[in-house]
Amino acid sequence: MIWTVLLLFKGLLAVILIYKRRCRRENEPPLDKGYIPWLGHALEFGRDAAKFLSRMKKKHGDIFTVRAAGRYVTVLLDPNMYDAVLSDTEALDFKSVSKVLMQRMFSLTMPNHDPASERAWMKQHFHGPSLVQLCESMQNNLQLVFSTTDVAQNPQQWSTGGLFSFCYSLLFRAGYLTLFGVCENDVTQLDTVYEEFRKFDGLLAKLARQTEKREERRMARGAQERLWQLLSGCGAGQSTRALGSSWQRSYLEHLQSEEVEEESQRRAMLLQLWVTQGNAGPAAFWLLGFLLTHPEAMCAVRAEIRSLQLQRHPLANLQKHTPVLDSVLSETLRLRAAALITREVVQDKVLQTGAGQEYLLRRGDRLCLFPFLSPQMDPQIHREPEKFKYDRFLNADGTEKKDFFKGGVRMKYCNMPWGAGSNMCVGRHFAVSGIKQFVYMMLTNLDLELCDQQSTMPPVNPSRYGFGMLQPIGDLEIRYRLKPASSSLEHCHRR
Ligand code: HEM
Repeated sequence: MIWTVLLLFKGLLAVILIYKRRCRRENEPPLDKGYIPWLGHALEFGRDAAKFLSRMKKKHGDIFTVRAAGRYVTVLLDPNMYDAVLSDTEALDFKSVSKVLMQRMFSLTMPNHDPASERAWMKQHFHGPSLVQLCESMQNNLQLVFSTTDVAQNPQQWSTGGLFSFCYSLLFRAGYLTLFGVCENDVTQLDTVYEEFRKFDGLLAKLARQTEKREERRMARGAQERLWQLLSGCGAGQSTRALGSSWQRSYLEHLQSEEVEEESQRRAMLLQLWVTQGNAGPAAFWLLGFLLTHPEAMCAVRAEIRSLQLQRHPLANLQKHTPVLDSVLSETLRLRAAALITREVVQDKVLQTGAGQEYLLRRGDRLCLFPFLSPQMDPQIHREPEKFKYDRFLNADGTEKKDFFKGGVRMKYCNMPWGAGSNMCVGRHFAVSGIKQFVYMMLTNLDLELCDQQSTMPPVNPSRYGFGMLQPIGDLEIRYRLKPASSSLEHCHRR
């Protein structure tokens, strides 16, 4: 009994000390600890990071430090200072943050893991000649998975369903075939992988924040186990589908060269599955959703695709000569890509603003950039930032618009869906190519419309801020059927 009381007393003392200890020092950013000892702002941060950080920005400006679950997190929201953070790999460490997340989300530890060598390995596959091959494979696999859908098998009939599920499942399956492959060409395996992945993906944000309930943890771990199993390759004597297996094999060889133990090799496959397949489907959903709910944007994209179809190599030109579709994609990503870029401060560091003011970052704290708030949703850079404007990234002459200003100064970063600097998304070209191929395929093969012409886009799930592409709460109901052979893209739906 006496020991319990003593322990409780010691715990209370520690909490009080932690609460009392931290004070703002000279030149440090404004400090906002919140009222709850130790926890600070963790709950509000996790519930809706965009809302919470907007509130803090209004209160403190572009740089401030908040307490969240015992940690002090400095948040920087001035894009003109992002380079100073992204270029400093000495004082600001990416590795320790990713290690923690790997453990929490994927139950994965890789003591010898070297992100730089993994990045170099990734680049071999997702840049240059290998990229061309992967994109071709993706194109074929998209057609293959599309041919297995209800709509392709019952050409005359209208099908109905949720657009999010439709986009996510098709892009996931095609991406999985392209990078991972299935055993003995058994495409039914894709259904199981997709279903397990969605269960797991739905709980990832909670796993990362360690806020899952016991039942949710059990579900997530169950899905993880099944995915590890499914991803660990084919049984003896079975073969995998062509290109996928070679990427996966090469990744295994890379892990072996880093002396990653066998169990961790298995688990790392799920991390790769999430990195490579977790964002493109949701991005395609928002893009098509915005087109369906903005008829003038749909008309402009259809007109561009029509003119592509008149060319000799429409699919090759799809990647190069589609300024309207590119602008729609950039605008979609501006509105719905919301990664938090996080670093551990491993040495005290001074950050300087454009106006010459200096801020001291304390060793042991975290530093976060949230490009979603600025530049992407910054009203001084983008007028009416919450509105979808399909031509926001187009100049009057129809070319790509790259110049955006804040306070008269041209911004280096006006949209940062892929991050920036040394950790910028390696798969961005592959992602863009896949999304464009998918949208082209949908618009040229399908009659696609909203079930209810008055419906609007579903709201964003606010707990996903910080995890790449956002996902909706609910879905957008659509109906679709295979286009009759005689019809063209000319028809524009007016609401
Ligand atoms: C719309 C789709 C996608 C979006 C919005 C996106 C976004 C991002 C962002 C913001 C980062 C940087 C994270 C940070 O700095 O902490 C990142 C990293 C990464 N992405 Fe993507 N991504 C997408 C699709 C893909 C695809 C399809 C692949 C691969 C096929 C991929 C592979 C990677 C890899 C390997 C990294 C880690 C880079 C490194 O740490 O060096 N991404 N992605």
